[in-house]
Amino acid sequence: MLSSRASSTTLLTCFMAKSTLSFVCQNCGAAYNRWQGKCDSCGEWNTLAEEDTTGSVPVSIRSKRKGRTFALESLSGKTQAAPRLSSGMTELDRVTGGGFVRGSVLLVGGDPGIGKSTLLTQATSMMARAGHRAVYISGEEAVAQVRLRAERLGLADAPVQLASETSVEDIVSTLSEGAVPRLIVIDSIQTMWTDTVESAPGTVTQVRASAQALIRFAKKTGAAIILVGHVTKDGQIAGPRVVEHMVDAVLSFEGEGSQQFRILRSVKNRFGATDEIGVFEMTGLGLREVTNPSELFLSERELGSPGTAVFAGIEGTRPVLVELQALVAPTSLGTPRRAVVGWDPSRLSMVLAVLEAHCGVKLSGHDVYLNVAGGLRIQEPAADLAAAAALVSSLVNAPLPTDAVYFGEISLSGAIRPVAQTPARLKEALKLGFGRAILPESARGDAGGDAGLALNSVNNLTTLVAEIAARGTPRGGRREPGGDQSAPRGTDAAEKNATPARFRRETS
Ligand code: TYD
Ligand code: MG
Repeated sequence: MLSSRASSTTLLTCFMAKSTLSFVCQNCGAAYNRWQGKCDSCGEWNTLAEEDTTGSVPVSIRSKRKGRTFALESLSGKTQAAPRLSSGMTELDRVTGGGFVRGSVLLVGGDPGIGKSTLLTQATSMMARAGHRAVYISGEEAVAQVRLRAERLGLADAPVQLASETSVEDIVSTLSEGAVPRLIVIDSIQTMWTDTVESAPGTVTQVRASAQALIRFAKKTGAAIILVGHVTKDGQIAGPRVVEHMVDAVLSFEGEGSQQFRILRSVKNRFGATDEIGVFEMTGLGLREVTNPSELFLSERELGSPGTAVFAGIEGTRPVLVELQALVAPTSLGTPRRAVVGWDPSRLSMVLAVLEAHCGVKLSGHDVYLNVAGGLRIQEPAADLAAAAALVSSLVNAPLPTDAVYFGEISLSGAIRPVAQTPARLKEALKLGFGRAILPESARGDAGGDAGLALNSVNNLTTLVAEIAARGTPRGGRREPGGDQSAPRGTDAAEKNATPARFRRETS
């Protein structure tokens, strides 16, 4: 009975192996028997391509290989702390969680031209200079091109071992000789190919099989491997997505093409936190590490212009101050535009809805633009308050105080909710010369006794809107002599006095 089932399984495997062609989504790796326009798995269009998906293990081995036995271990065995190797670049180490772990495989993804090759040339050179065997394999550029870059970076003298190769088998054989390399950079995984599968280089099947072979090599030898992966917006070229679940860490290198700031973000990390960022600046001499990002993000601030607010945020373990810029302008379109760079568009919609519903701020006749300066991408809800302040400031044409930082989460009811790590945010603001913080009422307690800054706590968005509106003058108009300061804040009287007519609720 058992043997007949086993033989039918073998038969089935052989039968399946014969139909080697299938349609594989080049974005997520899902396979289909027939071509279809849309991938059901990831929802992308036109990403299916015909591929030979014969597995990397030959059929004969699959069906006949007898499993070897291995020892099973207990959970409480002796373990060594993951030995880490510093890359020599503080910002890179911060993102990896303290250096490269032996035998680990990292994927560094990013748009073409963002600076991945530059970053990794610098990292391998630092490792090589520190006396480790560091290898840089480029499948995209000729040796001469890589040398030229190294020269430009002033790293030509670093004893990096360099090759321009694309065959995974050749690479593995070459690197198996001599001392085990401590760091191997494969630039990029999309250019690699292995004999074990028949698909063309760059296809999902090839990328996956090549990555598998390299991961096996890393685990066996203890070498740390960095795979470079291009991300394309239209998903036409095999994205490194399919590799993401196979590797130990995924780092994403981001930045606006027009700006020189680059942010290395950890998306997945089996050996460290995933919310850390490393900040770099692309200069004529390669990437420079930015140890104090706040200074950088605030360096081009236009003091005293309406529509800008400084947000005291937290990225990973460190506070980062960044400027939010808003522009609210009357629209000529039936459906006004809402555009946002560096922040979650759905959070912007939420803040706008709360402003309309609870604070009487009418924005349906206005285009709204929001931008996070410096190319940073903010994920914290704590930025709500700064965004709201910037939006209202732009609408009423009133600059916010230049020495103030803002943080706090806005709830749907218009209440300002507390956020984590208030002391760290305040400390950073103080360090950079800010004089006051606008923060949630309930965060006052967390701030500690003497924060060194004036603390303006707000518990309601309406209060903040009234305060900003009291400073404002509608575009093209003149500032009215200040509102009735005697009326208690947040009351209808205060709102009526402080809020320009177009701000008031229709009902009031
Ligand atoms: P590169 O590392 O080749 O990008 P990727 O490997 O991600 O495709 O870097 C590309 C850009 O960086 C290129 O437009 C030139 C610029 N660059 C500098 O500005 N300064 C430098 O020192 C170097 C090496 C590159
Ligand atoms: Mg490159």
